[in-house]
Amino acid sequence: MPHLGRYPTPVTELTHAAAAAGLPRGALLAKRDDLTSDVYGGNKVRKLERLLEEAKARGARRVVTIGAIGSHHVLATAIFGRAEGFEVDAILAPQTDTPHAEKVARVGATLGYTAYPVGSFAAVPLAVARRMRRGAYLIPPGGSSVTGSLGFVDAGLELAEQIARGELPRPASVVVALGSGGTAAGLLVGLEQAGLLVGSGGAPPVELVAVQVVDPPFGSAAHTLSLALAIRRRMKAPLTRAAITRLSQSLRVVRAYLGHGYGSPTPEGEAATMLAARDGLTLDPTYTAKTFAAAVEEARTRRVSGPVLFWMTLSATGPFERLLSGAPPLDALDPRLRRLLRAAAPQMP
Ligand SMILES: Cc1ncc(COP(=O)(O)O)c(C=O)c1O
Repeated sequence: MPHLGRYPTPVTELTHAAAAAGLPRGALLAKRDDLTSDVYGGNKVRKLERLLEEAKARGARRVVTIGAIGSHHVLATAIFGRAEGFEVDAILAPQTDTPHAEKVARVGATLGYTAYPVGSFAAVPLAVARRMRRGAYLIPPGGSSVTGSLGFVDAGLELAEQIARGELPRPASVVVALGSGGTAAGLLVGLEQAGLLVGSGGAPPVELVAVQVVDPPFGSAAHTLSLALAIRRRMKAPLTRAAITRLSQSLRVVRAYLGHGYGSPTPEGEAATMLAARDGLTLDPTYTAKTFAAAVEEARTRRVSGPVLFWMTLSATGPFERLLSGAPPLDALDPRLRRLLRAAAPQMP
C-alpha cells in the first residue's frame, strides 16, 4: 500500500474554542486529520492509499474520478494519483461559488489532471462511460467506495489505540462531516471493531454524529449504514443481528446544519469558523464549518459525560497555501471551468 500519509494524526484539545463557547476544560477535542500529509492533508489521504493500491494491483494506468469544481477529493486524487504515476481524468460538475471553491478550482488548474466539465450531475454517468476505457480505474465521488472507506476503518482503530495509550479520554461522541459517506461509514466500522460502540467500565458507548453537508438523497443514515455493512462484508466480519443493531444505534445523522444546501455557507458555520480559529484551525464553509458548529452544540447539550471529538477533515492551510501560491488567478482559468462556479448550484460531494 502506498504510504501517502503520516499516522497516527494527533488529537488536540480545543481549549480556547471551548472557553469562548462557555464549555468546561476538556469538553472539545479535535482529531487532526488536517495533518495527514505535508503535501495536501485532510480525509482523502486515508482513502487514496487504499484506492491507488487497488488501481495499481489491477494494472490501471489512469484513474477517472468525479466531483464538483471545488472538490477537495478531486484535488487530492490529482496530487496523489499523479505522484503515484497515474494519469488523472476529472469529471467536474458545477458548484456554488465561494472564495474557498474558487481557490480549489485555481489549484486544480496546476495539478496536471485532464478536466471534463459537465453542465450538471445528470450528465456524469455518460461522461464516466466515455472515459472508462481499458486500463482505467474509477474512483467514485469522494473516494467513498468500499475500498476507499477501509482507510477510515483504520482511522477508527487508530483512535482506539490512542485512547488505550491514554492520549485522550474516551469521547462521548465523535462528530464528523457526512458527504459521500465513506469517512463516516468507515469510522463507524472502525469504532465498532475496536469495541468502542459498547459501554465499558461505566463509560457509555461512543456515538458517531454524522453531520449532513450534502443535499438529499445523498448523506442519509440508510446510505451510510449500508456502506458500513458492505465494508464489514469485505472484511469478512460476521454480520449478526446484534452487530447491525449496534451499528444503527451508534450512528446519528444530523441534518440541521445544511442550510440552503451543499457548499452554501451558513451563519452557524461562520460563527464556528471564528471559534475554531482561536485554536489555530482553519475551516471551510462546505464541510468543516458546519460540522464544527454541530460539534460545539453537541458539547453544549450532550446528555452523557465525556468529551466531544471533532474529526477535522480539511487539509491544513500550510500545504494548501503552498499549492495556491503557484496557482493562476481566477481570470486565467479555462472559461469552461470558470463557468462551473455558479451563483447557486445544488450538488453532490
Ligand atoms: C474537507 C472535507 N470534509 C469532509 C468530507 C466528507 O467526507 P465523505 O465524502 O467521506 O463523507 C469531504 C468530502 O469531500 C471533505 O472534502
